[in-house]
Amino acid sequence: MTKKKIANIPFGPYIAVLAGATVNGKPNYATLGAYGVVSQRPVLYISLKNSHYTTAGVVENGFFSVNVPASADVAKTDYCGTVSGKDIDKSAVFESFYDEAGNAPLIKECPINYLCKVIQTIPIFDFTMFLGEIVAAYADEDCLENGVPDALKAKPTMMMAFGYFDIKDRIGTVFKACGGSRPHSP
Ligand SMILES: Cc1cc2nc3c(=O)[nH]c(=O)nc-3n(C[C@H](O)[C@H](O)[C@H](O)COP(=O)(O)O)c2cc1C
Repeated sequence: MTKKKIANIPFGPYIAVLAGATVNGKPNYATLGAYGVVSQRPVLYISLKNSHYTTAGVVENGFFSVNVPASADVAKTDYCGTVSGKDIDKSAVFESFYDEAGNAPLIKECPINYLCKVIQTIPIFDFTMFLGEIVAAYADEDCLENGVPDALKAKPTMMMAFGYFDIKDRIGTVFKACGGSRPHSP
């Protein structure tokens, strides 16, 4: 197959998440694709544009939430990424709840929620990457399989190339899809 040089744009898909923070005493949520894990330790990162309303709340409180919306909520997910809390109060778009471990709102309608305490911040161009230790996690009971969130039940929204997508199939089991035995820890 011939290789063609393409634009230096990262390839998706990314899970669309809603980052939550308390801003001026109210919950605010921003849609993010720039979210992920950094190791097997319970740490997540989010990368937020410095000018976002949500960013001010994360800096002020030292906590943020990561909420995984179900694909059925794609309209609300898109909305939170289209308008800013600076201009429009987004506090009632979703129902918020709280955990005593820290001041950031979590979203009731989202099947999976993480509350994170900021442990490191990394400036990157006009964004800040916040690394947060997970201090509380929640999942809807009906999204669990043996106590662990199941992707096909939680139905996250995948995004890439300006499109939103559903997850379709489970195609294998980690450490088993290769057909061999597991020689060492990853
Ligand atoms: C699908 C999608 C993904 C987005 N990903 C990011 C992201 O990773 N980082 C970011 O800073 N903004 C991202 N945005 C833009 C913010 O969500 C958007 O500017 C939002 O209005 C900011 O809200 P706030 O000012 O209330 O914080 C994304 C928007 C959409 C629709």
